[in-house]
Amino acid sequence: MIRAAIFDLDGVIVDTAKYHYLAWRRLAGELGFEFTEADNERLKGVSRMQSLDILLEVGGFGAAAFSEAQREEMAERKNRWYVESVSQMTPAEILSGVPSFLEEVRADGVRTALGSASRNTGLILDRLNLRGMFDTVVDGTMVERTKPDPEVFLKCAAALGAVPAGQCVVFEDAEAGIEAAAAGGMCSVGVGSPDVLRRADLVIPGFEGVEWRNIVNRLSMSE
Ligand code: BG6
Ligand code: MG
Repeated sequence: MIRAAIFDLDGVIVDTAKYHYLAWRRLAGELGFEFTEADNERLKGVSRMQSLDILLEVGGFGAAAFSEAQREEMAERKNRWYVESVSQMTPAEILSGVPSFLEEVRADGVRTALGSASRNTGLILDRLNLRGMFDTVVDGTMVERTKPDPEVFLKCAAALGAVPAGQCVVFEDAEAGIEAAAAGGMCSVGVGSPDVLRRADLVIPGFEGVEWRNIVNRLSMSE
């Protein structure tokens, strides 16, 4: 029986990946190299500092090329541009089908949580006017270990009143997030392409036309 549904934010509730990409590409440009959309795929679900390390690797910079202080400054620079973009967001950018899906989950008596690696989660939820749809929010400011570590999802389950992991389902668009759900003993629904999200218990392309009860039935069949 499923008692809690945990949602990732970036790529599941809203397509912020494009704003992350524009800001990282701008940083790469200032450092003198190109950063492609394909490179950007590697940053999904990954923390800000880990993302910077991947970007610098793509640019051909070795691990010792920049000091800790320089890396912090670059990550902050990127984040300022990113925050400028997400500060302009409106509820119209919530991905199609998400609000009605969340309403169905809640109407079924299932608790809802938002579990994201982003330190900008609060700002984004306020811009989207979505805080009221989640019983709890655990974000990048509250965890020590990032996905694929299950910490963020386990904290969600604990905050929802110690819901056992086996009674939680995680909705994720990133491979690292699907792995985190499995590591925490939770089942998962991949949101995106089945080629990328092979380890998910079930994959949907998005929430448009997707019914909560249908997901529950398909998950119980895959057990
Ligand atoms: C994740 C995104 O949700 O949050 C990553 O998928 C991002 O791409 C990470 O790097 C951290 O986000 P932020 O907003 O704290 O820089
Ligand atoms: Mg995501």
